[in-house]
Amino acid sequence: MTYDVTIIGSGPGGYVAAIRCAQLGLKTAIVERYSVLGGTCLNVGCIPSKALLDSSEHYHNAHKKFQTHGIDLKDLKVNMPQMIKRKNEVVLDNNKGVEFLMKKNKIDVFYGHGSFVHKNRIKITSSSGNAEEIETSKVIIATGSKPIVPANFNYDKKRVITSTEALNIEKVPGSMVVIGGGVIGLELGSVYARLGTKVIVVEFLDRIIAGMDADCSRELMKSMKNLGVEFHLRHAVTEVTPSKSKVTVVAQSRDDDSKKLSWDVDYCLVAIGRRPYTDGLGLENVGIALDEKGRIPVDEHLQTNVPGIYAIGDVIQGAMLAHKAEEEGVFVAETIVGQKPHIHYHLIPSVVYTWPEVAGVGYTEEELKEKGVPYKPGKFPFRALGRARASMDLDGMVKVLAHKETDEILGVHIVGARAADMIAEAVALMEFRASAEDAARMSHAHPTYTEAFKEASLAATANRALHI
Ligand code: FAD
Ligand code: NAI
Repeated sequence: MTYDVTIIGSGPGGYVAAIRCAQLGLKTAIVERYSVLGGTCLNVGCIPSKALLDSSEHYHNAHKKFQTHGIDLKDLKVNMPQMIKRKNEVVLDNNKGVEFLMKKNKIDVFYGHGSFVHKNRIKITSSSGNAEEIETSKVIIATGSKPIVPANFNYDKKRVITSTEALNIEKVPGSMVVIGGGVIGLELGSVYARLGTKVIVVEFLDRIIAGMDADCSRELMKSMKNLGVEFHLRHAVTEVTPSKSKVTVVAQSRDDDSKKLSWDVDYCLVAIGRRPYTDGLGLENVGIALDEKGRIPVDEHLQTNVPGIYAIGDVIQGAMLAHKAEEEGVFVAETIVGQKPHIHYHLIPSVVYTWPEVAGVGYTEEELKEKGVPYKPGKFPFRALGRARASMDLDGMVKVLAHKETDEILGVHIVGARAADMIAEAVALMEFRASAEDAARMSHAHPTYTEAFKEASLAATANRALHI
């Protein structure tokens, strides 16, 4: 069989690319090494982590907030096997959804490890070792990423775990050290802290979620400390030693050579970043060399140095985000048929699904300072909102950064209830290059959390927030 396009990897980058290719009339194949579609995001990433975040937040609210709401509960307890079962069902439903979309769009699915024989020939080796080959005109590599675990962290998948195992713990742990105060560490750290685990986060840098605006780091850390999470910033974990039932973790202070911290805990979650995954892809057979970070180099059309071979998602440069991978999937499909698509990378939002949630788009305040761009900040705290008082979600703020002379919105940073959904308004306005005054003059329903965005915009444009 000869295909117009073969996509290797069925994560959000790969399967979305496949759908768009098929919509554009291309005969499309997709190759996936696991027996289920959806990649990291659907199987061991975005979706299962959000399922556990939601379940644990329900428990936390029932435990800590229901009584204040006037709801008395007796014998509240966590049923961890049920929580994991529901999470697995959510994943399965989504697997079926992607399978359905492949069928609906007449995309041929091949289960097995894909590798290049040459530029137009892909070998697919099944888990039982059987191999078949298909011919293809173009290839899109969408092979994603895997967790980084240094060898000296003794990753045994039992006591020393990554996000993959952390999504399947069947008994609430007593204690857990999380290495890395990034997105995974804080999301999964929140899950377990809410369920009653003593969570200790060790972060190498000066602040958590270091890529986001510093005000967001501060606000989130405050909220997570209230949840009982312990933080050790400017510490590097140097030793991780598992035994049968415990793991010893040692961290070294970056400021004082003689200062070491050590914990004996039930689990050590390693969440220090992810690496592009290209193992066994046969890139050497087509003459593609990886860059210094193990990524596949691509040009502005997301084409590799080999004409007709493209790469998207976590395996190339840029943020490791599902929605970034999806945009790139659509972009490449449209490029292949000769269209002129565009991705505005600067306006891809980042979200952390803790509670409160954190979301940001555009420049951070630190970036504007560094670039010497004149700006006006406008801030509004959630606790001044009627909606936030009604729901008892008082933590957080919205910060709007507008250009000092033109008033154009340059960045929006939110910590607060439903920040993940609220950021979409900022993205839309920034896509249309709106001013802070434009945002401030739009009607926002009352009472909603989005009023904080209107108020922060008022503060940025003319220092005239109404409710503070
Ligand atoms: P992947 O989703 O990694 O998919 C790659 C696929 O390719 C895999 O299925 C793999 O098996 C397959 N593959 C690899 N090599 C081969 C081969 N040779 N042959 C055949 N198949 C192959 N991002 C967000 O935007 N929001 C979130 O809330 C979020 N939460 C996350 C939570 C966790 C715990 C983790 C780990 C990640 C999270 N991410 C989130 C990141 C997100 O999962 C990734 O950015 C996204 O999955 C990248 O998509 P992709 O298509 O590039 O690759
Ligand atoms: P990350 O890059 O977000 O954070 C890793 C953190 O670990 C960094 O702050 C780093 O300074 C720290 N670190 C590194 N080595 C250390 C050491 N030895 N000791 C102490 N700290 C150390 O990586 P993370 O959390 O693993 O996530 C990987 C990717 O997955 C992210 O790039 C993110 O894009 C994606 N993701 C996205 C989510 C979302 O969009 N909500 C959720 C989860 C993951």
